[in-house]
Amino acid sequence: MADRVRIFDTTLRDGEQAAGVSFSAEEKLQIAKLLERMGVDCIEAGFAAASPADFDAVNRIAREVRGTQIATLCRAVPNDVDQGWEAIRDAENPRIHVFLSSSDIHIAHQLRKDRESVLQQAREMVARAKQYTSDVEFSPMDATRSDVDFVRRMLREVIEAGATTINIPDTVGYAIPDEFARFITGILEDVPGADNVVVSVHCHNDLGLSTANSLAAVGAGARQVECTINGLGERAGNTSLEETVMAIRTRADHLGVEIGVDPQYLVPASRMVQDFAGMHVQPNKAIVGLNAFRHQSGIHQDGVVKMRETYEIMDPKEVGWVEGSQFVLSKLSGRAGFRSRLEDLGYDLDADELKAAFDRFQQLADRKTVVDDRDLEAIVMDRLGQPTEGWQLVSIDISAGTTATPSATVTLRSPDDEECSGAKTGTGPVDAIYQTIRELTGVEDELEEYSVTSITEGLDAQGDVTIRILIDGATHTGRATDQDILVASARAYINAINRHVSGQTGATAAATQERTP
Ligand code: KIV
Ligand code: ZN
Repeated sequence: MADRVRIFDTTLRDGEQAAGVSFSAEEKLQIAKLLERMGVDCIEAGFAAASPADFDAVNRIAREVRGTQIATLCRAVPNDVDQGWEAIRDAENPRIHVFLSSSDIHIAHQLRKDRESVLQQAREMVARAKQYTSDVEFSPMDATRSDVDFVRRMLREVIEAGATTINIPDTVGYAIPDEFARFITGILEDVPGADNVVVSVHCHNDLGLSTANSLAAVGAGARQVECTINGLGERAGNTSLEETVMAIRTRADHLGVEIGVDPQYLVPASRMVQDFAGMHVQPNKAIVGLNAFRHQSGIHQDGVVKMRETYEIMDPKEVGWVEGSQFVLSKLSGRAGFRSRLEDLGYDLDADELKAAFDRFQQLADRKTVVDDRDLEAIVMDRLGQPTEGWQLVSIDISAGTTATPSATVTLRSPDDEECSGAKTGTGPVDAIYQTIRELTGVEDELEEYSVTSITEGLDAQGDVTIRILIDGATHTGRATDQDILVASARAYINAINRHVSGQTGATAAATQERTP
């Protein structure tokens, strides 16, 4: 039987480190449930010690998502390891992931330490984690820019201290595939004990080589790949899960390894993460981009009509693309059909969320003849993306046109449950709304991005508004959908403000600047 490569998903941790991305607790749970259904071997649920909100989100996933391993990332300091364990101790199969830099540039300039003290710290924190769980992963951060002998020594010592997975991060996306493969071979050959642990890789995409580097490492003997849905992650992102899975499946003849992921879930997972992250993949993105299976030239179309394999190395159905037009619901559709379609799209809502989403669906179906998958995804995204506490929009009235000065009257309910109203003019209706909300909430922000797209075609389509605001150096993303784009604009802005006020996920964004890897 071929060797198995473990898929370790870090969408909820490294993925959430992408600039401007912050998932709500509900969104994190939905993504984790879908990853579990997909069959990933390990879910890195977050960085538990980063903030109380991160701790709660990791803890909730550890308690509610069974059937897969749940990991949390920890700096090599006692508090992170202890809190990390508290967050995941209820998981069916918990893993503590400790990291510490191994490159001289990090040791000297970021940690301001020396090699010996770093080695001691790594050993001690792996041993501390080992007291809690038998499953401990260690990552020498910036491994690919480190002195090779030093990394090997560090790996030997953490294996002796109890690490069961040694993960090699190409933290800044610096490696080149054949060089990275030799790095992995060297570890397997020269680090005592490496043959008894899992050698893992974690590649970043700064040179667009993360998937190529990960596959080269698999060829050299790595048996765990760390990746994210859509390649989401710090800077240019991480190795993309869908590319890794499909390369290993499609080129099993060459790579000679197996994986346990069901590819049917790749497109639903990609869409879910795009929606929740407010970050769309480019149309030519492999596997999950809109054009990934579209043929434009006549010669290609002719070939595909005669035999699909002439120009397709994968079957779009195999990765979860639905053939033909999308599934359509109408106001006559019942709750069972609604729930079943949401399940096909990868969502697993509890009774309260399902009821709220169904009410919203019925309101939309009253006004829109055709409600398709994109509308359903928008309804769930809108619903789960709202922090449970914070400011709420009560009402909004707009005046605008060719002769009127644009103005908005807005009533909000405050986090303390008090109603307040205000009115302001602006350069246009959206500006008037923002000025009014800014005054009512007292939030001082800088607008980084405002965009409106249409969820479906047609004049009755829902508008999808994304807004990114900068507060105290951290970016917060808010999204909302509504058939009235001015209402959607107001709700998206309030959503972004709430993410800041509640610290729900904004804490991660703020922490990223100094604490996260
Ligand atoms: O990129 C990196 O080095 C990381 C480690 C913490 C695994 O994310
Ligand atoms: Zn990383």
